Amino acid sequence: MEVVSTPATERVEIDLGDRSYPILIGEGLIDDPATFDAVPRSSDALIVTNTTVGPLYAQRLEATLAQRHARVHTVTLPDGEAFKHWQTLNLIFDALLERGCDRKTVLYALGGGVVGDMTGFAAACYMRGVPFVQVPTTLLAQVDSSVGGKTGINHPAGKNMIGAFYQPRLVVCDLSTLATLPPRELSAGLAEIIKYGPIADAAFLEWTEAHVDALRALDRPALVQAVRRSCEIKAEVVGQDERESGLRAILNFGHTFGHAIEAGMGYGEWLHGEAVGCGMVMAAHLSQRLGLVEHGFVERLSRVVERAGVPVRAPRLDATDNAGRYLDLMRVDKKAEAGEIRFVLIDGVGRAVVRPAPDAVVREVIDACTAG
Ligand code: NAD
Ligand code: GLY
Repeated sequence: MEVVSTPATERVEIDLGDRSYPILIGEGLIDDPATFDAVPRSSDALIVTNTTVGPLYAQRLEATLAQRHARVHTVTLPDGEAFKHWQTLNLIFDALLERGCDRKTVLYALGGGVVGDMTGFAAACYMRGVPFVQVPTTLLAQVDSSVGGKTGINHPAGKNMIGAFYQPRLVVCDLSTLATLPPRELSAGLAEIIKYGPIADAAFLEWTEAHVDALRALDRPALVQAVRRSCEIKAEVVGQDERESGLRAILNFGHTFGHAIEAGMGYGEWLHGEAVGCGMVMAAHLSQRLGLVEHGFVERLSRVVERAGVPVRAPRLDATDNAGRYLDLMRVDKKAEAGEIRFVLIDGVGRAVVRPAPDAVVREVIDACTAG
């Protein structure tokens, strides 16, 4: 399968046998029909987007896809993490069925991680599986959520609790779409980029520390390097452990504490990337307290997370037993086994391990990290 790309387009491969696919990284990709050469030429295509991204980019993508599909439909979802649930997912199925879309229809997720996760899950379920393409428009989605095939929705009892592993046919990271991204969302994406250094590549953490200001200023060469390296690391991990039977869990560094923050505050209050950024600082504290990583790592990580524009002090989730509330919420985490919470910890910069920790130590960490 040959993808024709402009010389400036970078390409990272996800190697999963017959479910392998490329990630394309470049400028103006959504306007170029050749970008989508890897996608089956079906009669129908459905673009899934939301009320914020649709008005910005849907028309352009529709015009490009009209050269590849006879009928290009668009469904526009309400915007926000708070809408990542069954009722919104059903709007995608309604659109597919109302328009008579068959099992060859290709779904295109045009938006951030929320649109991407829901579109992927809809693609996994519709007629027991139709092809889909990720067109991520947030930095977070370009470096993380669009890659690797985790799809799903939230349940009031826990984040991303309902879902499926289902790989896209193609991921298209058009960096020009980041120009309209609000600064707070850009910062949230930076948190996920920072994540890759501590867990897998000490040199990339140093690079991130040196380029965090350039990234916040949307410096193109820095962005290309950050998105490419993040996707390469994610591709390497997912290629070895697609269904998270082990290694893949390291990609959840910061997510155990982070998911507790998101659920405890109410979905959408803290951005996912903000919760992960703060959660990484908490997990670094825990790693340090357990003697896994050298003294000074917490300060080092806090500094870069803060410079990225992401909060490093954890919110209070309960007035009387704050640590207990965190622990209760973390027990719902998918990594938990028989109610035992398993944390992604840094075992020397550039290496992560997944293991439980004594509740008493976790409580100390939560107390030390909580604001006010
Ligand atoms: P998001 O999808 O809510 O997007 C953030 C906001 O930016 C939204 O308001 C969106 O409409 C807006 N937006 C998107 N692109 C824009 C653009 N180019 N210009 C202007 N506004 C734009 O949030 P996110 O941070 O992209 O993704 C978070 C979600 O991703 C969470 O639900 C999280 O659970 C999920 N996630 C999934 C994985 C995975 O592996 N599947 C990994 C990480 C995160
Ligand atoms: N974001 C975690 C994963 O894809 O596994």
